[in-house]
Amino acid sequence: MANYLSTGIVFTLLSQVNGLGRLPALGWNSWNAFGCEIDASKIMTAANKVVDLGLKDLGYEYINIDDCYSVKTNRDPTTQRMIPDPAKFPDGIADVASQIHDLGLKVGIYSSAGLTTCAGYPASLGYEQVDAETFAEWGIDYLKYDNCGVPSDQSDTYTYCVPDGTTGTSFSNGTCEDIASPAPEGYDWRNSKTAERYRTMRDALLSVNRTIFYSICDWGQANVNAWGNETGNSWRMSGDITADWPRIAEIANENSFYMNSADFWGYPDPDMLEVGNGNLTAAENRAHFALWAVMKSPLIIGTALDKINDDNLAVLKNKYLLDFHQDPLVGRPAYPYKWGYNKDWTFDPVHPAEYWSGPSSKLDGTLVVMLNSEEGNSTRTAVWEEIPELRGSGGDSFRVTDVWTGKDMGCVKQKHSVGLLSHDAAALVVGKPC
Ligand code: GAL
Repeated sequence: MANYLSTGIVFTLLSQVNGLGRLPALGWNSWNAFGCEIDASKIMTAANKVVDLGLKDLGYEYINIDDCYSVKTNRDPTTQRMIPDPAKFPDGIADVASQIHDLGLKVGIYSSAGLTTCAGYPASLGYEQVDAETFAEWGIDYLKYDNCGVPSDQSDTYTYCVPDGTTGTSFSNGTCEDIASPAPEGYDWRNSKTAERYRTMRDALLSVNRTIFYSICDWGQANVNAWGNETGNSWRMSGDITADWPRIAEIANENSFYMNSADFWGYPDPDMLEVGNGNLTAAENRAHFALWAVMKSPLIIGTALDKINDDNLAVLKNKYLLDFHQDPLVGRPAYPYKWGYNKDWTFDPVHPAEYWSGPSSKLDGTLVVMLNSEEGNSTRTAVWEEIPELRGSGGDSFRVTDVWTGKDMGCVKQKHSVGLLSHDAAALVVGKPC
């Protein structure tokens, strides 16, 4: 059991206290699909589709309501509680939660560690206890906790470098330049106001009579990788995803450097899936999902499930990738074993690491993912000798299965090459020596 020792105090992982999040979360969230345009019927459509499309059977369980569900202007003047918007949720959030529970699923809600949410709705700073109690009473199982609406006296003294194009920090090669107020050498970000604001809500959630998954959404700020796992079950490591390949590649590159933080009981969160959204090509949808699955990211679907096409649905249902992701015996994600386009360990938002591998007990072998980060078609080759899980395992031939088609490629000697479209990814199960 891992405990973190800092400034003389022993911190325990949150998940060891609330018992949640041993494996990365699976579910659906309203934001990427609908933004603020949500209501009870859209949430219930998603929940029913998760059942009808067979996603629930594969483990997708959380149906999460994001920003914009409450009355915008005020809390209840007497109880100080948030008020579900009667136009969007005429029977309240509790009613939707109970219908979702009746489907055998769980339900999530959203708030922010500030005075307002990112869309300007009431948020929880100063109201942590009353909100945690309200969420518990509504039957909530998961809280996504954002970082908007923070008053200046609750903001951090120092700025942390998030090497991310959306956070406004200038950086090159993953190193920030020109930070206005850098932290002094050795600063412990657990002492930041951000960490403190997230702990206040964690403690409020732990105090109520319901077990609630705690999903930190501070966009990687205040070095959340250092305290995310003692505070939450998962923690966002970047600014927001958008439904376009450059942003997906940028986040994948960034997250690839945090893979040592991902293991049983705690996972960096590169944001919710955009599979099915925008103008992503079939190849890009596949590659996005494969990368998120092998990084053991929370896989939170973000598209309208009543409109999803068959190809994208098949991607979200890919049994091999979900088996890898939900491994009961192996906590670590896949790691890049070679960058490919770049030399190893290059920080490049356009060309992330292209060659990934990781062990899988459920697949009884090694999962290998190869990305073509280039603009044109190109070939990628998995060379057995280069793959840490296979190197020195005694043979130079292995049984290979194509993850996208399920096709058994037979006994493959030394290496396997795949021609890839731009931004596509090959995924292989490399099994027993043969
Ligand atoms: C952002 C968050 C998004 C979404 C949005 C709602 O800060 O990262 O995922 O929740 O706020 O306004």
